[in-house]
Parts: sequence; structure tokens; C-alpha cells
Amino acid sequence: MSPRKFFVGGNWKMNGDKETLGEVIMTLNTASLNDETEVVCGAPSIYLDYARSKLDRRIGVAAQNCYKVPKGAFTGEISPAMINDCGGSWVILGHSERRHVFGESDELIGQKVAHCLESDLGVIACIGEKLEEREAETTEDVVFAQTKVIADNVKDWARVVLAYEPVWAIGTGRTATPDQAQEVHEKLRGWLRANVSESVADSVRIIYGGSVTGGNCKELAAQADVDGFLVGGASLKPEFVDIINACS
Ligand code: 13P
Repeated sequence: MSPRKFFVGGNWKMNGDKETLGEVIMTLNTASLNDETEVVCGAPSIYLDYARSKLDRRIGVAAQNCYKVPKGAFTGEISPAMINDCGGSWVILGHSERRHVFGESDELIGQKVAHCLESDLGVIACIGEKLEEREAETTEDVVFAQTKVIADNVKDWARVVLAYEPVWAIGTGRTATPDQAQEVHEKLRGWLRANVSESVADSVRIIYGGSVTGGNCKELAAQADVDGFLVGGASLKPEFVDIINACS
């Protein structure tokens, strides 16, 4: 039995409205969910309050991004303080869509990680290589470099979850095989052992994201270093319940 509590995050991305998200929430609230799994839903910022008011308290709410300071003249941004105020307890940072669609740098992501942790939010920190990087066999270099910038900004690892999301697997229907996921997760844990500490390596949840479905989740969940999932498309469907219960 792993000492690490299984963690499943749903990342709704920029999808849904009050009606359809309300249906997703109702499905979760009435489902039988494994108590051994920590569940968090990542809502669009405008629906954080709505999601928190409707979701059962056993499910946490995450923002999908935020800025690196508490307040100020930053039109269009939200702060960790605002996420806390709306009852959110987590934030997804460094998602590949933030990195590659909106051009966020490792440095900015690191600054956000530091500020969110100081603001008492849990951080789901995302890393992952692009297809051309995998093909060039630089996956390790890429994910270690991204992890280093995150690690340099973490004092307390208790509220950090590391999400390995290979960019080529996100929204493509092309899931990493259980062996591919396990290989990278094991290497990431090794990196944490060598560069942070033995106890952090043993305790930090490393979750997998990229085309996780009700159909492939059990085999992925059975891997020794896969401690949960970050789920996009399938988190808006009833099969999210099966993913939450993947290691039952
Ligand atoms: P999909 O599950 O839709 O591939 O998205 C994964 C993801 O980006 C979760 O953050």
C-alpha cells in the first residue's frame, strides 16, 4: 500500500456553464466516491464561487491559474487571496496550456508557486514534454528543468502535488502507456530524492494527466509511482467517478 493518498483533480478548463457544470457537480455529489482518494475540481475562475457553493464539502475546489501577488493593477488576473476568499483551496499552475498557449515562462510559474504556497493554497504544479522533445529523447532534461524551477520555490512540500502531463497526450486521445507514465514518474521521484530529500521523494504525490479515461485509469493507477490523475475532458463526464475510484 502506498503511503501517499491517491489524488484526482478534474480540470474543467474553459468549458461548461452553470447548467452543465451543475450537472457534473450533481453527479459527483450523489456518487459513491472512494474515501481514500482526495478529489479536487478545477473550475474557471468566474465559477469558483458557484462550484464551491454547490460541490459537496468532501470535494475541494481549485483555480486553474492565478497571478503572483495579492492585489494590484493587473487587469484580468486573480490572486490567491481571491481564490481563498471564494473557498478554493488549490490552484493549478504551469499547465501546458498556460506555458504554450499563453507563453508563461518557468520563472513566472516559479514565482506563482512561491506566492500561492505563502498564501496557504495547495499547488498542483504541472510539467511535461512536447512531442518533439520526447522524440529527441530529451523528456528527462525537460521535466527535470521544469521541476527544478518549481522546487526552488517550495519550502513546504506538504501542499504540493506534481502533475506530469506530457503535452502530446493532452486532449489528443493518445494516453501515455502505463510503462511510459511509470518511467517518468519514477525518474521524477528519483530527482526529488537526489535534489530535495528522501522524505519529500517518498511523500509527494506525482499524478499523471493526458487523455485519462474511465477505460485506461485502472491500469495507470496500478503503477507504483502514479499517485493519481489530472483529468481534462473526462472530468466533465460521468466516467470521472470511475477515475476517482480507479484504485478501489
Ligand atoms: P485531457 O484529459 O482532456 O487530455 O486533459 C488533460 C489535462 O490537460 C488536465 O490538466
